[in-house]
Amino acid sequence: MTQHDTKDKPWGGRFSEPTDAFVERFTASVAFDKRLYAQDIQGSIAHATMLSRVGVLTQAEFAQIREGLEAIRQDIEAGRFEWSQKLEDVHMNIEARLTDRIGLTGKKLHTGRSRNDQVATDIRLYLRDEAQVITGEIRRLLEGLAMLAEREADTIMPGFTHLQTAQPVTFGHHMLAWAEMLKRDFGRLQDCVARLNIMPLGAAALAGTTYPIDRSITCELLGFSAPAENSLDAVSDRDFAIEFCSFASVLLMHLSRFSEELILWTSAQFGFIDLPDRFCTGSSIMPQKKNPDVPELVRGKSGRVTGHLMSLLMLMKGQPLAYNKDNQEDKEPLFDTVDTVRDCLKAYADMVPAIQVRKEVMREAARRGFSTATDLADYLVARKGIPFRDAHEIVGKAVGLGVRTGRDLADMSLTDLQQFSPLITEDVFEVLTLEGSVKARNHIGGTAPNQVRAAAARLREWLAEHA
Ligand code: ARG
Repeated sequence: MTQHDTKDKPWGGRFSEPTDAFVERFTASVAFDKRLYAQDIQGSIAHATMLSRVGVLTQAEFAQIREGLEAIRQDIEAGRFEWSQKLEDVHMNIEARLTDRIGLTGKKLHTGRSRNDQVATDIRLYLRDEAQVITGEIRRLLEGLAMLAEREADTIMPGFTHLQTAQPVTFGHHMLAWAEMLKRDFGRLQDCVARLNIMPLGAAALAGTTYPIDRSITCELLGFSAPAENSLDAVSDRDFAIEFCSFASVLLMHLSRFSEELILWTSAQFGFIDLPDRFCTGSSIMPQKKNPDVPELVRGKSGRVTGHLMSLLMLMKGQPLAYNKDNQEDKEPLFDTVDTVRDCLKAYADMVPAIQVRKEVMREAARRGFSTATDLADYLVARKGIPFRDAHEIVGKAVGLGVRTGRDLADMSLTDLQQFSPLITEDVFEVLTLEGSVKARNHIGGTAPNQVRAAAARLREWLAEHA
């Protein structure tokens, strides 16, 4: 027995033949869970600190363990650490190396602990760290949207329903719609972090431990809000990963919708905006092409994140209590979700402030699409006392004339309009202008430029409160 001798394994005691080489590869997770090394070491130092405070380790043993773990962290960060598949996962790799370095004392680190509560702790610490980075990126994107909203508070564009021109809105107002979605995503992430910030350590394999541990010490050292109440739940719960992927799926769904608009708006057919060249790529065959690859990829990547959410739900749904090896499958979907969310948010936070707006094109598009038809109906109701349904009918006929003669309502003469209602007078032209139309929607949540400026100011306040 040479290469796969189970005597090398931290759990090899009861085994009488080596692990099958394929099984060794099949069951190993180190290739991907080595990403958790920093949290694994952080958790181990906290655990050893606690063991020394309750008298399970001596001060000298603790000092040796801490120094050993810190040296290992430096080795890993300097690329000097050799990861071994034989040692299965990040936890056993680090523990085995610790014993290599400091001798027998290294073998005491795992007292009162199991890889089950260890890994549950590591992933929570990892996700808590990543959530902070992600929160910063959402904030950066929101700042870009606030800036655009302030800059383009007066910029008119057609608002759409059914992707048909509906009513004029301001570009700033449109950007603030995205900001609202992102604020909700921000809140969902915060909720997720509040629930994940519970400490599994002490649950050990599943039932707790016989050592006189003090979980409040580890809890405080690691910045968790409380120790997990139930040891069985502590080692088996992956709800927090599911919640995170659910947050991520909704966020990416939003960014995917945003992408869809940017892709449409940069097309020759819309021409509403330009994206700077640095966010686009060309075609190898069509020299004229400038493709919006970044938003397209974000739209595409939303699919894989939703897929990861499904993976985790399916991973958990059949598992009896407590820990099962199935749980090792939680990491790749989770890690890929984190990476994808970070990349997509970075792309958006960098790109959004650089959006170049083609005001004249958007204005012309709003003018062409009878976007002030509702304003004419409202004029007939509010100023002339016509019931709304009748007003709707009158305006519909006026639009019919416009379609037949290729004119917008604002291009018609008073006589033209009066054939549909003799009550229409010269003052109608104020409401038929695009500026008049948006300015009239002057209430909280409306598209009037002064309301957009006020909403952007409230967004700035929100950002200051959520710093
Ligand atoms: N690599 C394992 C995982 O990711 C660590 C916990 C293993 N525990 C065990 N009893 N086999 O879930």
